[in-house]
Amino acid sequence: MSAPQSMPNGRRNSVSASDPPQFIPIPVNPRGVPQSSYGPTSPTLSTSPRNTFSVSPGSHTRQRSLSSLATPGVARQLTAFLPADYPLAEEEDGPGDKRQGKQRILLLENINLDAAEYLKKAGFEVDHVTKAYSEEELVAKLPAYDAVGIRSKTKITAKVIDACPKLLVIGCFCIGTNQVDLLKAAQRGVAVFNSPFSNSRSVAELVIAEIISLSRQLLDRSSEMRAGIWNKLSKGCWEIRGKTLGIVGYGHIGSQLSVLAEAFGMSVIYYDVIPLMPLGSARQVDSLQELLNRADFVTLHVPEIPDTIGMMGAAEFAHMKKGSYFINNARGKVVDLDALASALESGHLAGAAVDVYPKEPGANGPGFNDNLGPFIPRLRQIPNLILTPHIGGSTEEAQRAIGSEVSTALSRYLDVGTTLGAVNFPEVDLRAITTQDERHIRVCHVHKNEPGVLKRVNNILADHNIEKQFSDSKGDIAYLMADISDVGEEEVENIYKQISAASSNILTRLLY
Ligand SMILES: NC(=O)c1ccc[n+]([C@@H]2O[C@H](COP(=O)([O-])OP(=O)(O)OC[C@H]3O[C@@H](n4cnc5c(N)ncnc54)[C@H](O)[C@@H]3O)[C@@H](O)[C@H]2O)c1
Repeated sequence: MSAPQSMPNGRRNSVSASDPPQFIPIPVNPRGVPQSSYGPTSPTLSTSPRNTFSVSPGSHTRQRSLSSLATPGVARQLTAFLPADYPLAEEEDGPGDKRQGKQRILLLENINLDAAEYLKKAGFEVDHVTKAYSEEELVAKLPAYDAVGIRSKTKITAKVIDACPKLLVIGCFCIGTNQVDLLKAAQRGVAVFNSPFSNSRSVAELVIAEIISLSRQLLDRSSEMRAGIWNKLSKGCWEIRGKTLGIVGYGHIGSQLSVLAEAFGMSVIYYDVIPLMPLGSARQVDSLQELLNRADFVTLHVPEIPDTIGMMGAAEFAHMKKGSYFINNARGKVVDLDALASALESGHLAGAAVDVYPKEPGANGPGFNDNLGPFIPRLRQIPNLILTPHIGGSTEEAQRAIGSEVSTALSRYLDVGTTLGAVNFPEVDLRAITTQDERHIRVCHVHKNEPGVLKRVNNILADHNIEKQFSDSKGDIAYLMADISDVGEEEVENIYKQISAASSNILTRLLY
């Protein structure tokens, strides 16, 4: 069977019932990132220096310890051409510093050490810091780096971006990207990557645990035991085998959950705004109301978007079967928690699990109180209601997967220019330049999205064969990748100067 294909944005192909695909595309690679830029085989670590063009005096090349094997067809490790005025690390650390000429990455907020190790092995100079930096610290320290990795506490503001002219890429080692001024970053040609789907499995497993826990009133029995109460009962406690699970939103999490639930003997129905191929024996239903009417357990896995905010209110809970259960591990604003409290207090629902809230405390510790909403004290009194502090995706495995996905994205962008998975850039990629393509160079040109740019760039490249080229735009930003062949070493700087001289130019990099 061929490898599962995914859309560039990680979205599985939608299907219609009349035209089912021949295989079910499970999102193994969360982003669906093809291996194109690295070619059929990843580069292999080697201590031997690579052959590089030497460019004219005054310009720099970055020397990296990573090298591809000299096997025909294997992706060639590319080196960035740097103009003469490019600020190299020796300016900060003095001549002879071991970091001279290496690309430098700053990892903040104690990012998974595996990620740091991966980036070091890929030939980058990595500084790993356990804490978050303030804006002042970033302005002082980040200008020395080509890339930064953060989690949610470090704010990359417009001021920080302005202070860091050589910053090329920001990796958010988390789901959200609110902590970065995405527009400013795009306008400055700084690509931003995150990892929205690395914790899908963790969430799906938590939902399975909640389904069983609710069905057996597990947390209430445990609380009673801690209070010294022996309360052995079977009334109102059920097996989940043979029950119907209704999944709202059949994306990365919903579809994984579907498979797990069927393994427990549940029947799965799902509702999604687009037609999607079912996994296993699951069935898509036509409306949310149909799902609510039929399911014994309803679980939400939709994004927070205008269409989904408040999608579960009093009317929707009334449509659920009496004695059914409700689970929300998606986003807090999707559910009216007052209405949920009423549905539970009236006994219409037999239980619920809530992991996400419209407002959440900023830090661990006391703070889950009525400042976050008037429904909080009510929720705390309701039996068979599992309340968790947004831990759906919080596992060691998910952290490792996030580390791996984002460090790979950083490394790929720096090394070969691919923006697949970027949140603020058009997603562009080209297949690899191989070891056979010795006199090829790759032009990576971030520019303003305005008429005439392609014509101008192609005129500059006209004396060479453009082997492959791909351009896309997102809002005011466009990104062009082009591989040109038969380029003499003396021509590299000239091509760079001509392309980057245009008023539409935001950032031009040449990789060879
Ligand atoms: N609790 C946690 O810690 C945690 C962790 C990860 C993700 N999440 C949240 O889980 C949710 C789902 O994540 P995912 O990775 O599966 O997302 P996804 O983008 O892969 O899937 C979302 C699905 O919802 C569907 N959808 C959109 N609007 C809809 C609507 N109005 N009705 C029905 N379906 C609709 C989409 O078509 C898509 O198939 C997101 O809100 C995400 O933020 C929570």
